[in-house]
Amino acid sequence: MLMGRLFTVSLIGVLLLHSCTVSLALSSSNFTDLSALLAFKSEIKIDPNNILGSNWTETENFCNWVGVSCSRRRQRVTALSLRNMGLQGTISPHVGNLSFLVKFDLYNNSFHGHLIPEIGHLRRLVVLNMHRNLMEGAIPTSLHQCQKLEGIDLHANNLTAGNIPLYISNCSQLKYIQLPLNQFSGPVPTSLGQLEHLQELDLEINQLTSQSDSLELSFLTSLTRCRSLEKLYISGNPLNGLLPVSIGNLSSSLQDFVAYSCQIKGPIPKEIGSLRNLNQLDLSENNMTGSIPSTIKGMKSLQSLSSLNLSHNSFWGPIPESFRELITLDYMDLSHNNISGSIPKSMVALSHLQYLNLSFNNLSGEIPSEGPFANFTAASFVENEALCGLPIFQGAFKSFEAECKVLARVRHRNLVRVISSCSNPELRAVVLQYMPNGSLEKWLYSHNYCLNLFQRVSIMVDVALALEYLHHGQSEPVVHCDLKPSNVLLDDDMVAHVGDFGIAKILVEKKSTTQTKTLGTLGYIAPEYGLEGRVSTRGDIYSYGIMLLEMLTRKKPTDDMFVGEFYVVAAQDHLLEIMELGLECSKEFPEERIDIKDVVVKLNKIKVQIIATHLE
Ligand SMILES: *[C@@H]1O[C@H](CO)[C@@H](O)[C@H](O)[C@H]1NC(C)=O
Ligand SMILES: *[C@@H]1O[C@H](CO)[C@@H](O)[C@H](O)[C@H]1NC(C)=O
Ligand SMILES: *[C@@H]1O[C@H](CO)[C@@H](O)[C@H](O)[C@H]1NC(C)=O
Ligand SMILES: *[C@@H]1O[C@H](CO)[C@@H](O)[C@H](O)[C@H]1NC(C)=O
Ligand SMILES: *[C@@H]1O[C@H](CO)[C@@H](O)[C@H](O)[C@H]1NC(C)=O
Ligand SMILES: *[C@@H]1O[C@H](CO)[C@@H](O)[C@H](O)[C@H]1NC(C)=O
Ligand SMILES: *[C@@H]1O[C@H](CO)[C@@H](O)[C@H](O)[C@H]1NC(C)=O
Ligand SMILES: *[C@@H]1O[C@H](CO)[C@@H](O)[C@H](O)[C@H]1NC(C)=O
Ligand SMILES: *[C@@H]1O[C@H](CO)[C@@H](O)[C@H](O)[C@H]1NC(C)=O
Ligand SMILES: *[C@@H]1O[C@H](CO)[C@@H](O)[C@H](O)[C@H]1NC(C)=O
Ligand SMILES: *[C@@H]1O[C@H](CO)[C@@H](O)[C@H](O)[C@H]1NC(C)=O
Ligand SMILES: *[C@@H]1O[C@H](CO)[C@@H](O)[C@H](O)[C@H]1NC(C)=O
Repeated sequence: MLMGRLFTVSLIGVLLLHSCTVSLALSSSNFTDLSALLAFKSEIKIDPNNILGSNWTETENFCNWVGVSCSRRRQRVTALSLRNMGLQGTISPHVGNLSFLVKFDLYNNSFHGHLIPEIGHLRRLVVLNMHRNLMEGAIPTSLHQCQKLEGIDLHANNLTAGNIPLYISNCSQLKYIQLPLNQFSGPVPTSLGQLEHLQELDLEINQLTSQSDSLELSFLTSLTRCRSLEKLYISGNPLNGLLPVSIGNLSSSLQDFVAYSCQIKGPIPKEIGSLRNLNQLDLSENNMTGSIPSTIKGMKSLQSLSSLNLSHNSFWGPIPESFRELITLDYMDLSHNNISGSIPKSMVALSHLQYLNLSFNNLSGEIPSEGPFANFTAASFVENEALCGLPIFQGAFKSFEAECKVLARVRHRNLVRVISSCSNPELRAVVLQYMPNGSLEKWLYSHNYCLNLFQRVSIMVDVALALEYLHHGQSEPVVHCDLKPSNVLLDDDMVAHVGDFGIAKILVEKKSTTQTKTLGTLGYIAPEYGLEGRVSTRGDIYSYGIMLLEMLTRKKPTDDMFVGEFYVVAAQDHLLEIMELGLECSKEFPEERIDIKDVVVKLNKIKVQIIATHLE
């Protein structure tokens, strides 16, 4: 009995003792969170709107503090979310004591210093967001203890200290890894392939490389194990390798593959066609070669490819016929490659197309005029580095419109080809006629090029024919307004084409002059044009005259303009005649200048004489 009572008492004692420790534990945990939060606050040196200063007061339960969330039952801190507050300071290591923390989000503040290793104590952490802060140093090794971590966003910090840690792949629940705009270097760890739940990997703009022992981007092969991968961003890293064939084994849920400016070499493996749900493929600004695989059409599916950017590489060969199947495509940029052949007529089926850029390639042939092409505004410009689409890209939309209007109506062998109307200003495509020999300016002013007398005269005949057409060939005369050697382009056969109608004026109703505020190029503009803004066809004649004189004077002493096939003596007569013609064109008073029709006649005569001399 006594034994029994004693036992009962001690049992009660044990129970009491037990409940005592439980309540002690509770309040001490609750105290731990409070002191951790206070320690966190004390490390914040600048709080521009005094939010924490006024709100985080000890008189109030910390669970009601701004940015703090607690578990309901235990009143432990589960989230600390202080976004866009302009807070400056370091992160207190006491944060590691918030052992129930699930979400730690300091997006868009100015926290600096190192990521504290104590973060590794946060075993329940699911989201870590330090996007847009000024953190430095490495990702702490302790992070691998965060077994529940699903998202790590360290976007736009200043994290350095070498590699992306291998052990990051021990956080087996990771779905989002966002590390862009830091300074990570070294190889992309292949261990990332262990993250079977990975949905998004963003490593853009770091200093990451491929595995040093391999020419292929082997980490891409390892990522084929991430069966849920949807978004892969690796742009702006000196990866310098080949795309592996295994790229086709990347997750079939892959939607975005963005890898511009990565020094990727070699061809696009045809296996890429297996990525059926790809929505965005950007391999621009790499060193890729080979032909564009026709399998890219494989990507078509219900919500598939809408943006394809292969620009700024060295792809060659034709645009695959299969592209007609990319019916959901909105954007296509194939500019700056070595693509040849004609634009497949079947591409008129691409009804979604809003942007098409094929400039700086070697395309030839007819440009389709139906389907989306019917709505493309920006006609054909020149494909010369110095000149590509000047009227568009020099920034003046007005000027682009002007060119569009003019180009829409003119068609001539010696004018840069026009492809379509300008009905819809939203749609802009530049489909360029390739001018393999570049601009006349290049031929006149760079040391590696020279033109003989016959070529010079032929070019000036071509330009005169273009002007004759502009001035007299249609119901309303068109004044070019900016005639100069850089606006004259030479095709394969050295036939000249006049381009850049950026400031061209249409003289409506046969009025012979009009006023303008847009200036031509100094040196070539007629005096009356420069002084009073009076535009007339005579102004073009002036510019033409200046060019004609320039054609004679721009020559190097070593130039073979007068030697070889042409006798100096015979050439002298022609030179004088041409010089005279040039002077007649560039007379000071507009009315004294010769008409372009007469220029054509005279220059053609000279051209014939040169040929005759040559045959003698
Ligand atoms: C702190 O902010 C929270 C949430 O905005 C608010 O509910 C609470 O009343 C504030 N407390 C104080 C003391 O200002
Ligand atoms: C601390 O815990 C007790 C109960 O254990 C609770 O009543 C109190 O509100 C908590 N304090 C804070 C600041 O969360
Ligand atoms: C970042 O926070 C500041 C306020 O501190 C705000 O003005 C700014 O718009 C935020 N920027 C972004 C991108 O969220
Ligand atoms: C909280 O964290 C700090 C820094 O890591 C540590 O020194 C301290 O012992 C911790 N306090 C408690 C109550 O756990
Ligand atoms: C980034 O870190 C480097 C040193 O690692 C430092 O020189 C630089 O000022 C930091 N940049 C910013 C924006 O904090
Ligand atoms: C982390 O992963 C590595 C392999 O990548 C393994 O050797 C190690 O045991 C893991 N550590 C923990 C704590 O899980
Ligand atoms: C990769 O895909 C090819 C088919 O394209 C298949 O034959 C091969 O077994 C796949 N490899 C792996 C490792 O899944
Ligand atoms: C394609 O990529 C180039 C280079 O990266 C970029 O300048 C261009 O804007 C991109 N085109 C489109 C349509 O996004
Ligand atoms: C990539 O091509 C550019 C231009 O052709 C060249 O300057 C650069 O060295 C190349 N890079 C590599 C890694 O081959
Ligand atoms: C087309 O591409 C070229 C070369 O990449 C670029 O310079 C030009 O701005 C692009 N045109 C348009 C309208 O975007
Ligand atoms: C362009 O492609 C043609 C074949 O279509 C090839 O002969 C030529 O060498 C290529 N040029 C460059 C610069 O890659
Ligand atoms: C072209 O534009 C016209 C009117 O702007 C529009 O009705 C038509 O649907 C467009 N065609 C295509 C293929 O986008």
